[in-house]
Amino acid sequence: MISTMRTPLIAANWKMYKTPTEATAFLTSFFPLVKNNTAAEIVLFPAMPCLPALVDAARGKSVFIGSQNMHWMQEGAYTGETSPTMLTAIGVTHVLIGHSERRQYFNETDTTVNLKLKSALEHDLFPIVCVGERLEERQHGRTAEVLRLQVSIALEGIDPVRLGSLVVAYEPVWAIGTGKTATPETAEEAHTMIRSEIARIAGQELAQATRILYGGSVKPENAASLCCLKDVDGALVGGASLNPQSFSEIVASASERPKR
Ligand code: PGA
Repeated sequence: MISTMRTPLIAANWKMYKTPTEATAFLTSFFPLVKNNTAAEIVLFPAMPCLPALVDAARGKSVFIGSQNMHWMQEGAYTGETSPTMLTAIGVTHVLIGHSERRQYFNETDTTVNLKLKSALEHDLFPIVCVGERLEERQHGRTAEVLRLQVSIALEGIDPVRLGSLVVAYEPVWAIGTGKTATPETAEEAHTMIRSEIARIAGQELAQATRILYGGSVKPENAASLCCLKDVDGALVGGASLNPQSFSEIVASASERPKR
């Protein structure tokens, strides 16, 4: 029986910012700010060189540490890549898969997203799979088609019983780092489409249990209005997660979300 309690998840995507020293300094300031948080799960995705220091610093605290990417193979001649076993060996628990910047600049495709999702599940890493349409796709009325395709290829060939830990992040590409946020209506509509595609592929029960985060210019000022939506289960935050104060305010906004 899958739990249908969708605890909000607030995740920080630090991209290529912060050295290990800066990352641990963030945590030192951040912990006291979220010490009363019980509403949201918190996951930080720092750059690879910061992972060991942050895993150490977060031990025993209710903050999880994830990687922004990984290869799907366990080992091999893949210069510059990091495997799932290397991540779990150092205590990393989560992985971001298919972020739009990886799709745009590093040849990530729906097919590699699928390979990485399968591998993350096999290695007991909690996956956050990112999907989202580009501006021209939205302007041409192709949002639903793009989202359905991204979700269906990501989940292809995976037994639904293995998908209990899946989290999806809806990040419209035109909203990332631009200051343009999707309106609550736009976000809710996209999340409903994604949930119905998960239901079509893996069943209604799993779809109702799957957390779908919104990402794209989330700030303390707009987090509550997005996180309170019926089909939005948290946020993936870039720019505003680099500062402990603003990220803690976004975490706090999760407590305004009605329980479901
Ligand atoms: P942003 O980035 O919050 O800076 O728009 C979000 C993301 O890329 O995950």
